[in-house]
Amino acid sequence: TGKTYEHILVSTPKPGVGFIQLNRPKALNALSTPLILELNSALRDFQSTSTIGAIVLTGSDRAFAAGADIKEMADLTFSAAYGADFIETWSDLVTFLKKPLITAINGYALGGGCELAMMGDILYCSNSAVFGQPEIKLGVIPGAGGSQRLTKAIGKSRAMEAILTGNNISAKQAGDWGLVAKVFETPEECVNGALKTAEKIAGFSQIAVKAAKEVVNKSQDLGIREGVEYERRVFHGLFGSKDQKIGMSAFAKKEKAEWTNE
Ligand code: HXC
Repeated sequence: TGKTYEHILVSTPKPGVGFIQLNRPKALNALSTPLILELNSALRDFQSTSTIGAIVLTGSDRAFAAGADIKEMADLTFSAAYGADFIETWSDLVTFLKKPLITAINGYALGGGCELAMMGDILYCSNSAVFGQPEIKLGVIPGAGGSQRLTKAIGKSRAMEAILTGNNISAKQAGDWGLVAKVFETPEECVNGALKTAEKIAGFSQIAVKAAKEVVNKSQDLGIREGVEYERRVFHGLFGSKDQKIGMSAFAKKEKAEWTNE
């Protein structure tokens, strides 16, 4: 993207795939405000780059991210946090991003790190991953969606246990409970798996991909009846796209579809 960053590495390792690695190794990728601003900026750039169809976000082998930056938060006051809407910028990460985001989680994903991981549309992890919401041990609670997203993902009783005790969730539990879509043996396999999935997604019509992400996300906010109706409206709308004609006529002719993203 031409920008230089201090806390993240940004590249496009495969056709159509944007790749962001959190890179604050000395603090186990603790999510300081400068890091979050860089992450937001890189995601915005990928969102507005037409050749990018999907994005992968990862950390290091040792830590996806060990949380919000505790040292930065230590002296925060209520009025400063409330007045500056502390953490609200994090929500931007999910609301403006219309392209699929795959989070590839290795090592610690704790507190804000777990919350950031759960902002992914698809979560992949390796056996080394350790999830958790340990905020209770610091005298606070999750503040970037953890109580909501973890509960939706793994159910109330398991989420309550994790959030009230601060106990970690292992990679195996994350896989068994459906917090992640896949558990890989090694961090390398996890990142490569995420890049491969992103490349596959980027190879489809971006119009259809965008619509698919939008309707799945609606299921998180709407009841089943409204959700199904919403899906049908968006489905109907796709018959106004060129790519629907291209995709269906390619099938009939036994040809490969050449998407136009129109
Ligand atoms: C700031 C952190 C940090 C964090 C680690 N470090 N986590 N700095 N904020 N969240 C720093 C350590 O201070 C240390 O710096 C260096 O990273 C290496 O960490 P160690 O603790 O020495 O490593 P290790 O012994 O391997 O232990 C790893 C760990 C532990 C279990 C992950 O670091 C840990 O418990 N971290 C905090 C986890 C946590 O509570 N996260 C939730 C934060 S609250 P030095 O300078 O000493 O080498 C939160 C709220 C979210 O996220 C609310 C909304 C966003």
